[in-house]
Amino acid sequence: MRFATVLFLFTLGSVCGQATAERKLVYVTVLFRHGDRSPIKAYPTDPYQESDWPQGFGQLSQEGMRQHFELGHFLRKRYNGFLNESYNRHEIFVRSTDYDRTLMSAEANLAGLYPPSGQQVFDPNLKWQPIPVHTLPKSEEKLLSFPLDDCPRYRQLMSETEHAEEFVNMTIKYQDIIELVGDKTGLNATSVESIWSVYDTLFCESRHNMSAPDWVTPQVLQRLKVLKDFEIKAIFGVYKQLEKSRLQGGLLLGEIVKNLTKMAAPDPEQQLKLMMLSAHDSTIAALHMSLDVYNGRQPPYAACQIFELYREDNGSVSVSMFYRNDSTVDPYSQQLPGCSLDCPLEDFVRITRPWISDDRDKECQVPSNGTNKELIISLLVSSCLLFILIIVLLSVICSHKSPIRTLGYQHVINEEVADGS
Ligand SMILES: *[C@@H]1O[C@H](CO)[C@@H](O)[C@H](O)[C@H]1NC(C)=O
Ligand SMILES: *[C@@H]1O[C@H](CO)[C@@H](O)[C@H](O)[C@H]1NC(C)=O
Ligand SMILES: *[C@@H]1O[C@H](CO)[C@@H](O)[C@H](O)[C@H]1NC(C)=O
Ligand SMILES: *[C@@H]1O[C@H](CO)[C@@H](O)[C@H](O)[C@H]1NC(C)=O
Ligand SMILES: *[C@@H]1O[C@H](CO)[C@@H](O)[C@H](O)[C@H]1NC(C)=O
Ligand SMILES: *[C@@H]1O[C@H](CO)[C@@H](O)[C@H](O)[C@H]1NC(C)=O
Ligand SMILES: *[C@@H]1O[C@H](CO)[C@@H](O)[C@H](O)[C@H]1NC(C)=O
Repeated sequence: MRFATVLFLFTLGSVCGQATAERKLVYVTVLFRHGDRSPIKAYPTDPYQESDWPQGFGQLSQEGMRQHFELGHFLRKRYNGFLNESYNRHEIFVRSTDYDRTLMSAEANLAGLYPPSGQQVFDPNLKWQPIPVHTLPKSEEKLLSFPLDDCPRYRQLMSETEHAEEFVNMTIKYQDIIELVGDKTGLNATSVESIWSVYDTLFCESRHNMSAPDWVTPQVLQRLKVLKDFEIKAIFGVYKQLEKSRLQGGLLLGEIVKNLTKMAAPDPEQQLKLMMLSAHDSTIAALHMSLDVYNGRQPPYAACQIFELYREDNGSVSVSMFYRNDSTVDPYSQQLPGCSLDCPLEDFVRITRPWISDDRDKECQVPSNGTNKELIISLLVSSCLLFILIIVLLSVICSHKSPIRTLGYQHVINEEVADGS
């Protein structure tokens, strides 16, 4: 009897398995970090300054170009048959932040994804064709560049984060290295934040075989890496992660969810298949924190977050997520907490909803509820009155020396002006 049940369940399982195998890919969103780059800046005592880098600070290197060319190849292999082999402008839309390194990463990636063939070849010696990459000026970028600093409530949350137990513990645990770095770099660093960028600089230099100063032992570098990973976590999490998401990464997540929902409705006119977003480690971290899937490690160069939207024969739609942070292994499957690996779209929307604000501008205001506001106003009014009263009293006392006894205010001002001249 029991065996029969198991057998029945097993058969049911394989039937369902077959059904899932028939799900059809309809839309993909990828978000990646740029490739290997030069450091963003040097520390004061750094033996390597901007002129030591071929294109200066913050620029994509040839290694970075190779990483994205490789990622483009990977995407071609993964989506061959889904994406047409020849470039079709209706199938793909590419958007990047307005940084040289992210724009160039997208271009290198597209060179790997769409090598021209047949009619699209415009120069037989060139395995490349131009493909548009869209961007917005940095000042208008509200989708791909985090943390956005236009939000008073977020700034308040960040100063509160510094008093969170986990943050304080890190500062204590790494006090010795914080002091060492402050001492050696000329940065006068006394906090966790101020040494974050030092790790990045040292990391870039070591990647490019530039010998490090004696104080930079592998152990020091390892400890700095832990602090760097913690920094990224603290910007979007550690303290009030959900609220931080509503003010930061939730903006991007909201757009992604909106677009997935739009693409889920069958539309024979719809030709878009791949949305490609080129951005930064902090963009991926912000999004991962909003999905509550952050793995605690800084997203490496050319790390790629993938969303795949599938439609089943019966019309139901689901979302699968993958994270490719290592080009030597298959992308990791990601599970949205509270959902299955193939997460039904309606569940995906429901689970992510609390992490997305629909009135961020309002939530960015520093909180003050009605009664508090009234209390503050009445306190202000009464202290103003008190202040005026004191001035009047003082001026009455002072005016004993002067012939004018009325209008104390003006009298005081006149006296000052007279004294000054
Ligand atoms: C459609 O099929 C999938 C997989 O077989 C199943 O999980 C889902 O419940 C079905 N949806 C509907 C509306 O029947
Ligand atoms: C790919 O694009 C070519 C050229 O536009 C077209 O002839 C072909 O039918 C397309 N293939 C698929 C599978 O859509
Ligand atoms: C902080 O450190 C204290 C003492 O070592 C420990 O008891 C506590 O659990 C830590 N808290 C966090 C949030 O890491
Ligand atoms: C660090 O402190 C020293 C001595 O107080 C000062 O001369 C130097 O300008 C400071 N450096 C920076 C980068 O603030
Ligand atoms: C650094 O050195 C290693 C080992 O010699 C070499 O494989 C690598 O290409 C070098 N990297 C750069 C950026 O020069
Ligand atoms: C959402 O779709 C719109 C319209 O196609 C596009 O402009 C935008 O970049 C997309 N955003 C994301 C995050 O996919
Ligand atoms: C890549 O992501 C997986 C899953 O989150 C994680 O286990 C792994 O440590 C990460 N690897 C790197 C190189 O960041």
